[in-house]
Amino acid sequence: MNENCFTFYSVSPTETEVFGETIGRLSGGGELLLLEGTLGAGKTVMVKGIAKGLDIKNEIVSPTFIIIRSYKGRLILNHIDLYRIDSIDGLGLEEYLDDEDSITVIEWGEKLLNHLPLDEYLLVRIDVVDENSREIVLEPRGERYIEYTRRIKDGISGY
Ligand SMILES: Nc1ncnc2c1ncn2[C@@H]1O[C@H](COP(=O)(O)OP(=O)(O)OP(=O)(O)O)[C@@H](O)[C@H]1O
Ligand SMILES: [Mg+2]
Repeated sequence: MNENCFTFYSVSPTETEVFGETIGRLSGGGELLLLEGTLGAGKTVMVKGIAKGLDIKNEIVSPTFIIIRSYKGRLILNHIDLYRIDSIDGLGLEEYLDDEDSITVIEWGEKLLNHLPLDEYLLVRIDVVDENSREIVLEPRGERYIEYTRRIKDGISGY
């Protein structure tokens, strides 16, 4: 953790979704978000918000068995879930990570950290505090994501 991180306490699923909506609204394309958190932490809830913020009308369903689902809105949202994945070899993830017209959000994304030579991304950690409360920490890596986190922080504080 460092001074570039942003910590937010969410007290309801709706609040986490609205947080995601702000992220979606402030995304310009090319972003990579790695979502880290236990089962039921609220990763998918956040992705639903991100989709809303991108004006995606489709319902987001967890891509647990499909691994990757893409939705089209203002930008394309690539929603990936690595929960059941032991090896990312052969998944072709790289092609999703280099597209300026899409934003890629990966549940259990921390699994990638030791595999891809990634040095720029937004790590989103969601910790369960109690039944309805979550601590959400945005941990940016790279100048672009530090700026992105700043915009999100300002966007949230603007409510
Ligand atoms: N503050 C909160 N933010 C988000 N979800 C919350 C909150 N409080 C309670 N919840 C509940 O926690 C659950 C989060 O489910 P969700 O599917 O988003 O988790 P997940 O992290 O995607 O889990 P999985 O690893 O199984 O995919 C939902 O049932 C939601 O209603
Ligand atoms: Mg999920």
